[in-house]
Amino acid sequence: MQTVAVPSRVLSSQTHVTALTGPELTRPKLETDRLSVFYGDHQAVSDVCLTFKKNTVTALIGPSGCGKSTFLRALNRMNDSIEGCRMAGEIRYDGIELQSRQVNVLEVRKQIGMVFQRPVPFAKSIYKNVAYGPIRHGVKKKKELDRIVEDSLRKAALWDEVKDFLHQSALRLSGGQQQRLCIARALAMQPDVLLLDEPASALDPVSTAKIEELIGQLKKEITIIIVTHNMQQARRISDETAYFYMGRMVEHGPTEQIFSNPRSEQTRQYISGQIG
Ligand SMILES: Nc1ncnc2c1ncn2[C@@H]1O[C@H](COP(=O)(O)OP(=O)(O)OP(=O)(O)O)[C@@H](O)[C@H]1O
Ligand SMILES: [Mg+2]
Repeated sequence: MQTVAVPSRVLSSQTHVTALTGPELTRPKLETDRLSVFYGDHQAVSDVCLTFKKNTVTALIGPSGCGKSTFLRALNRMNDSIEGCRMAGEIRYDGIELQSRQVNVLEVRKQIGMVFQRPVPFAKSIYKNVAYGPIRHGVKKKKELDRIVEDSLRKAALWDEVKDFLHQSALRLSGGQQQRLCIARALAMQPDVLLLDEPASALDPVSTAKIEELIGQLKKEITIIIVTHNMQQARRISDETAYFYMGRMVEHGPTEQIFSNPRSEQTRQYISGQIG
């Protein structure tokens, strides 16, 4: 295969790397190679090899404590900020090793955005919550910020509900609205990959449906990895599913195959409600 030197967004400026060319789809957007994560002596994730294709939704499923969130946080180096947490193995984003010293972590988190289980808006206005990231990354013009805020809130299916009080506190929004605000905040950075850790677990069915619809829209532009305990949700929204058990990735494949005809007996038991 042909290779060519390209500048990468996640590397420090002026740095060029050799990247594969050819059809984009031949290379995964993101992949892990024998990824392990430890908290002190405790190994939470063991030797996970997984690939995530561009413009697909991958669901990570498995019983509580099996390492889904730890694995997800590793993918944009969010675990770096947890004391005593260390990783082994490799994560490659567009072919670039994310643990490399040349990689700019802030840029990684911009490209690979994350939304957590519990919405955590800043104690600021709705507008400032969404504009915060772009401002930190140098956007100054009010017109440009207005456009980013509106676009992101529209994409997160929240604009119509908040457009008349953008300058009121985000803490006055309902839980479901706060979660969509957090999604808007992540989208304002124009991420290439979005990591969602049980984004709908605390939400009512209407808000959940909105978030599921949003995921369907977003995958036209970005790659999505979602942790969920809701099997119906995984089946509805994902193209691929990976089943985790006690830190290991047991099985990965097309969602329909995993749910209708899993290769592993453990996966079958979990999906049918006998584990977890
Ligand atoms: N900050 C931390 N410090 C120490 N141990 C941790 C930390 N976070 C998670 N762990 C441990 O790592 C293991 C995996 O936890 P993780 O939160 O990744 O599981 P999970 O699959 O996301 O579970 P759940 O479905 O309940 O959210 C567990 O044994 C947990 O106790
Ligand atoms: Mg978790």
